[in-house]
Amino acid sequence: MKFLIINGPNLNLLGKREPGIYGQNSYESLCERLKAFAAAHGATADCVQSNHEGAIIDAIHGAEGVYDAIIMNPGAYTHYSIAILDALKAVEVPCIEVHLSNIHQREEFRHKSVTAPACVGQICGLGLYGYEAAMGYFLEQS
Ligand code: DQA
Repeated sequence: MKFLIINGPNLNLLGKREPGIYGQNSYESLCERLKAFAAAHGATADCVQSNHEGAIIDAIHGAEGVYDAIIMNPGAYTHYSIAILDALKAVEVPCIEVHLSNIHQREEFRHKSVTAPACVGQICGLGLYGYEAAMGYFLEQS
């Protein structure tokens, strides 16, 4: 399986950004870990991060016919990007939404995901493991 891992705004600052919420691991170490997990399961994982909504939409469009599944943490776009919702609906590639933190234990504005309805499922609150859990789900389905 070929996975595309998309991380949205501010996730490039993992490790520095609110470590009490998002943990001590850097974005680079997240990507290394996910690539190693994929390789250990006979799969590949490409990682993309952007702070720009349009670049995330382009990455989703570009996944069609190239990747088997998307695993995406849209960051704050989760809570208001109808454009990312529409992009997910426009492609055939299945997506699981992942959040490092438990968005339901946080501010009320984080409880709602506008992008999750276009996803197979949503995983939150499990830290980095959530991305591996999402890959594990797709691997089991394949
Ligand atoms: C997040 C949760 C979002 O509410 C927040 O805006 C983020 C990160 C998470 O991984 O827990 O940027 O998606």
